Amino acid sequence: MGSGEFPAFLFLFLEAVGKGFMKVLVVGSGGRDHAIAWKFAQSRRVKKVYVAHGNAGISRTAQCVDVQAPEAIVDFAEKERIDLTFVGPEKPLSAGIVDLFESRGLAIIGPDRRASRLESSKCDTKVMLRKLGIPVPEFAVFSDPDQARAYVRSVGYPVVVKADGLAAGKGSLVCDDVADAEAAIHEIMEAKIFGEAGSRVDIEKRLYGRELSFFCFSDGYSLAPMVAAQDYKRAYDNDQGKNTGGMGSYSPHPWLDEALVRTIMERVAEPLIQGIREKYEIFYRGVLYLGLMLVQEGTAITPYVLEINIRLGDPEAQVILPRLETDLVDVCEAILAGRLKEVPLRWDPRYRLCLIAVSGRTKGKKGWYKGYPDRYKIGVPIYGLDTVDPGCLVFHSGTGWGDDGELITTGGRVFGIVSTGETLEEARAFAYREMEKVTFEGMYYRKDIGRE
Ligand code: GLY
Repeated sequence: MGSGEFPAFLFLFLEAVGKGFMKVLVVGSGGRDHAIAWKFAQSRRVKKVYVAHGNAGISRTAQCVDVQAPEAIVDFAEKERIDLTFVGPEKPLSAGIVDLFESRGLAIIGPDRRASRLESSKCDTKVMLRKLGIPVPEFAVFSDPDQARAYVRSVGYPVVVKADGLAAGKGSLVCDDVADAEAAIHEIMEAKIFGEAGSRVDIEKRLYGRELSFFCFSDGYSLAPMVAAQDYKRAYDNDQGKNTGGMGSYSPHPWLDEALVRTIMERVAEPLIQGIREKYEIFYRGVLYLGLMLVQEGTAITPYVLEINIRLGDPEAQVILPRLETDLVDVCEAILAGRLKEVPLRWDPRYRLCLIAVSGRTKGKKGWYKGYPDRYKIGVPIYGLDTVDPGCLVFHSGTGWGDDGELITTGGRVFGIVSTGETLEEARAFAYREMEKVTFEGMYYRKDIGRE
């Protein structure tokens, strides 16, 4: 859809906005989705926030509705006359929830199914980026594990082996040597630890530099960069252990200055959105998440694209959205109308820091569970969350209600505590102090988030 067109759902949406009593639906059930629902609940233009399907903690912020399949969600939105829907996770986007909403004339924020391939196929995306002249590491794509093994033996440098499809942020295995790379190929392609997502792999030269998650809103033509966040992907302190969905985050980022934002916009984000629209007829509307490796080359920094995601990151969103002062409804309205550049984003300069509490090592019915991201126990009561200082935000990822109405764990990542501070150190001390008030069996969190 071009910016010149003005579809019927937009009139309905703007009408509701004008009266100031919008109903908003957030799709998702994790900490990011809690943060999105919380942000919409701050808007004076929103009367009610629904979340499909949410969790116990989200039900304190919004009305959770027990619908999960895209068809059931669109039926709910139509019946409830939802004015605006915002999709948090990648799975419903890749399943085509946006196409479904648009076919029924309902306003929704997120890329459509075609655009969602940017995340759901790492291999096709890398090929496309290379053709568009956007910096990517040297890479090759394989669907045969023997050919993949022969390749890693031949290249003579360390690699990263990536499952092609969706793997909940855990599909990239960073390898130190050939033995590691062969093991990764076996795990992904033969043992199928990520299921069919590992039928193909993208094998990339491992780059050394500074890793950065960079987010923009896109209306398909123009882009609005967000503030950056530092994410901590590894399970244990000092970046040890397996990759997880994210163990903590903070924002502002120490080295994202205006010049670097300009470099990333000019070398990656703008040519990408324009290139996919003009050369591949992919119209990208929603949140664009660039996973970058910044490499110093001579006097310049080159932002290499490691991955593209089609959504806000988690836990990055938990520190970015609390800093956004602009009404999220205004941003969504501008995205839908194709006039994003008319809505400058305003940001709170103070620090936010997020600690994620996960289900760690416990003794289960069948012996010891290693804990997230490996096997973990669920259903254990959580104590002390209500005693956390109200100056912190608590976003829930994996919580539910037990038989006696008590708060229990239901997932690997359980909740995040987000603090505010004038400095990173102040925010860090505040979050760690509050985290100590909470306990559950096997609770684990990293102790080095925000430590410089
Ligand atoms: N924190 C990484 C992700 O959301 O994929």
